[in-house]
Amino acid sequence: MRTTIHDIQKLKRRGERIPMLTAYDYTSARLAEQAGLPMVLVGDSLGMVMQGHNSTVPVTLDQMVYHTQMVVRGTTQALVVADLPFLSYTSTEQAIHAAARLMQEGGAQAVKLEGGAAIMPTVRRLVELGIPVMGHLGFTPQSVHQIGLRVQGKTSNAARQLVEDALALDDAGVFAIVLELIPIQLAAAITERVHAATIGIGAGAGCDGQVQVWHDLLGVLTDFLPRHARRYANLADVISGAIGQYAADVRASTFPTSENASAMNDDDLREALDGIAHASEPASV
Ligand code: KIV
Repeated sequence: MRTTIHDIQKLKRRGERIPMLTAYDYTSARLAEQAGLPMVLVGDSLGMVMQGHNSTVPVTLDQMVYHTQMVVRGTTQALVVADLPFLSYTSTEQAIHAAARLMQEGGAQAVKLEGGAAIMPTVRRLVELGIPVMGHLGFTPQSVHQIGLRVQGKTSNAARQLVEDALALDDAGVFAIVLELIPIQLAAAITERVHAATIGIGAGAGCDGQVQVWHDLLGVLTDFLPRHARRYANLADVISGAIGQYAADVRASTFPTSENASAMNDDDLREALDGIAHASEPASV
């Protein structure tokens, strides 16, 4: 049985912390689930870590559907949440269409969208239609060109706005809210005031859960580690080391060996090659 949004809310009520990680394909999703994560996010951060863009803005709905399908195939237990990409929810009708694609074609069990007051009628309608929704407040990466990559909610006015947005999302029926890059005390205060599970990233330990990006956590891309991340492995070194060793073995003819392929009967081969010259020899007439 897959984790449900009710299981996630039960974890909040019981005060049990909720670990979440992004996953973008079959293999990463399978590994995340095997490690016991109750929930994975098909984040549009795939625009950066999978596609090599410098923001999430170029990611399309078709691409989100494609990655969601792979993640869903890699899981049987985890709740799969998929991001509605940039400008795919400019109206309620458009959001319903995009969420339907992520759930019906992609197989996601929930969708996430970024924003506060402006998207509230849309969130409310999605929830009314039976679509589990995760909100996303604070630093909202799809707006990076407008707000810049910086901590949000540091002044009392901005903090008040974020609390009001969180309360409104809660009232609209979201089951969880990502709080990204907001002050620790503000995230804790929001967490105490909403029924939805708060999932922090760069928002401190007072949230109900945490979400991290696969590549940051595992050290797959090493050029940059955001302050909010901790590297639990250095897979880049492990992977490059393994590939380098493979290349050296091929060059030295120590891979493959007879164990890596099957042989055939010499007579059968001779018969098969009868009359066929080596490429380097002139063909006989
Ligand atoms: O796209 C993403 O990976 C996200 C997380 C950083 C929360 O939205």
